[in-house]
Amino acid sequence: MGQYERVAELPKERIPQHVAIILDGNGRWAAAHNVGRSKGHLAGAENVETISDALIEMGVKYLTVYAFSTENWKRSEEEVSYLMMLLKQYLIKNKKDAIRRNIQIKVLGDKSGLSKELQLLIEDVEASTAHLDSFHLQFAINYGGRDELCRAMKKIAAQGMDAEEITQDTIAANLDTAGLPDPDLLIRTSGELRISNFLLWQLAYSEFYFSDKYWPDFTPQDLEEAILDYARRDRRFGGRK
Ligand code: IPE
Ligand code: IPE
Ligand code: MG
Repeated sequence: MGQYERVAELPKERIPQHVAIILDGNGRWAAAHNVGRSKGHLAGAENVETISDALIEMGVKYLTVYAFSTENWKRSEEEVSYLMMLLKQYLIKNKKDAIRRNIQIKVLGDKSGLSKELQLLIEDVEASTAHLDSFHLQFAINYGGRDELCRAMKKIAAQGMDAEEITQDTIAANLDTAGLPDPDLLIRTSGELRISNFLLWQLAYSEFYFSDKYWPDFTPQDLEEAILDYARRDRRFGGRK
């Protein structure tokens, strides 16, 4: 069945329900090809479509992609505005396609820090796909795990809750990921071995997979290797078998 036979042969419970990706290495990919960083980001954006299609085919239900961190504002104005333009284009281009394929799109992160134009576009895409559920695609934009936790604490305080009433469920319900399952598998490309402020709460028991390839070079076959590697892991969640 399909192109990913080895994944198709896995028992269903060995396939991750939710994959999170720190797509990294666009800049180094561009340098290696003697082109500007923008070209790397463009190739990277195209690869998000390729990889999300492959995940859908493999039977994964949720994909969360780290597209722009709260720390990425430190980059040059030229790079930041190019990235924002790409995100805008991606949302415009993928809205129709998402509706046709029953895909829900959500943005995680502090939207208030984005341009009004991008905010309106995000609202529109989120509202138009909110009822769809074949696949769930989350984009983390102006996202930082610490910032998300800080905003969640503020929301809880504003609800006037007693300290005694606060549980782990209260915190989870006030994060940007409220209602989403935690990632089962986190993939980071480009050889960096860190999480760079991504999903600090949600990754508590995720399995990590690191690839040395730059993100634009990360293929569906590499993804298949990551899923097969995940399928071999023994997730104990602190218990003993
Ligand atoms: C990842 O690629 C994309 C974003 C962080 C937006 P980078 O731009 O970080 O690429 P490198 O790490 O400089 O190679
Ligand atoms: C993490 O990549 C952020 C995104 C992928 C959006 P960075 O390239 O910004 O992370 P560092 O600087 O290597 O930690
Ligand atoms: Mg990087």
